[in-house]
Amino acid sequence: MVRRLILLVVTLAFASANPASAQRPRAHERLYAEHCATCHGVDGAGGLGLSLVDDIWTHGADDASIARIIANGAAEGAMPAYREVLTDEQIRSLVVVIRELRDRPRFDAAKLEAAGTNGRYSSRLADFTLTEVYATEGILWGLDFLPDDNMILSSRSGRIVVTDGQQETVIQGTPAVHDEGDIGLLDLRLHPDYKNNGWVYVAANVDGDPHTDERRAMTEIIRARIRNGQWVDEERIFQARPEHRAMGRQRLGSRFLFHDGYLYFSIGDGGPQDQPSQDLTAPIGKTYRIHDDGRIPSDNPFAGHENPDVYEAIWTYGNRNVQGFAIQPETGLLFAAEHGPRGGDELNILKPGANYGWPLVTYGVHYNGQPISAVQQKEGIEDVVLHWTPSIAVCDIHFYDGNAFPAWHGDLLVTALGREHLRRLRFDGTTVTEQELLISDIGRIRTISTDQNGTLHLVTNHRGENPRSQVYRMEPSPMKK
Ligand code: HEC
Repeated sequence: MVRRLILLVVTLAFASANPASAQRPRAHERLYAEHCATCHGVDGAGGLGLSLVDDIWTHGADDASIARIIANGAAEGAMPAYREVLTDEQIRSLVVVIRELRDRPRFDAAKLEAAGTNGRYSSRLADFTLTEVYATEGILWGLDFLPDDNMILSSRSGRIVVTDGQQETVIQGTPAVHDEGDIGLLDLRLHPDYKNNGWVYVAANVDGDPHTDERRAMTEIIRARIRNGQWVDEERIFQARPEHRAMGRQRLGSRFLFHDGYLYFSIGDGGPQDQPSQDLTAPIGKTYRIHDDGRIPSDNPFAGHENPDVYEAIWTYGNRNVQGFAIQPETGLLFAAEHGPRGGDELNILKPGANYGWPLVTYGVHYNGQPISAVQQKEGIEDVVLHWTPSIAVCDIHFYDGNAFPAWHGDLLVTALGREHLRRLRFDGTTVTEQELLISDIGRIRTISTDQNGTLHLVTNHRGENPRSQVYRMEPSPMKK
């Protein structure tokens, strides 16, 4: 730590003495930052992609093997192919960047500097504090609060824990999941009437599906009760048909919203292959609406469809990867945050049966920079409320209606993974009139949730060689003059 601080001081001194040369990255480092850092991390320590600095080379350790995988991609395109977008010389210089990354000190001066906030933040309309209330290994995903105000959390590895922040109980007998990339055990919510019925809902990429020879499996919606620390009374309330259970290997990610007695959930588009998000007979790239026990509401847009293969639980389609749902209090409209490709993160208003265009209509491009679509708007396709290009890697959203921050009433709080921040959006009706960055120094913000008193909580993820997660409580503090 002391050494790091000295390094930081030296770095800052150097930067201020030479403002013009202040750490401007060289051309090949920019190439890495532009094309590779989203998945492999700014420091190469990994995330969605493998670590490039751990000396473990799945595809060969020599320069030629590394150049080959950059050119050709791997794992069905999860590692994109760059031979069409980068020259041989550029690929060669990336091999050099990767070699250099290994020897670079592993810290981020900008972040260390920002950490000097000591958990106090100022913003235009309110000041607040962040207090860490729980920290754990692994990637936390869903957070909800039990009637006694204990937290219940899902972790992508499949763990479900109940904790007051100090003591924790790991629930036994939870579904075994296929934890890989960004799939595994995803969102978790309690039934709105949990006090009386005890139902806990999770979205899971269940392991070892008996219908396929592949271990990974399409997202299932499961509910169960917890009795004496055991996962019991389990019911699978949404499952894809057997022929679809091995579809996709990424972005099967899910978010829940209970509203008006229905459960809304999302399933992402499954990955880089050309997946049929537009096809109503395939489960991916959709949002869904079901009753709390899995029955299909008779007024769902595709209920009773003439084609018996259509998934009647579908609410909207052509959705790449919906990671957040929220109801706008004044209008009752259902908003969704859709995690885009490179560029093209979207905020949408979901209308029953509507098509959101993916991958025919998008503001984004493929991760390797190749185009996806020349069309950003089209008749018959719902247009966005707002898009973020370049991407912030949008995740969860929450319309604020609590008492702690009266100045934020009706504003939408938006979390971001890639850009690692929380922002606040103000609306005039359904038009965004203001965006403000509230937090940008606590890591990838996965989830925003409120406890029984309406107090805001944030879940952050830190990926890389030793993934860790935290839960922060966000409370008002007197505004500085
Ligand atoms: C969309 C995410 C993504 C992007 C963008 C990406 N990669 Fe990858 N990369 C992956 C994944 C996933 C793997 C692991 C593939 C597998 O499972 O075999 C990988 C594997 C690799 C490997 C092999 C690692 C090993 O252990 O053998 C290298 C080298 C690599 N990537 C370099 C790059 C470079 C250089 C760039 C930028 C030009 C890049 N990647 C961009 C996701 C990505």
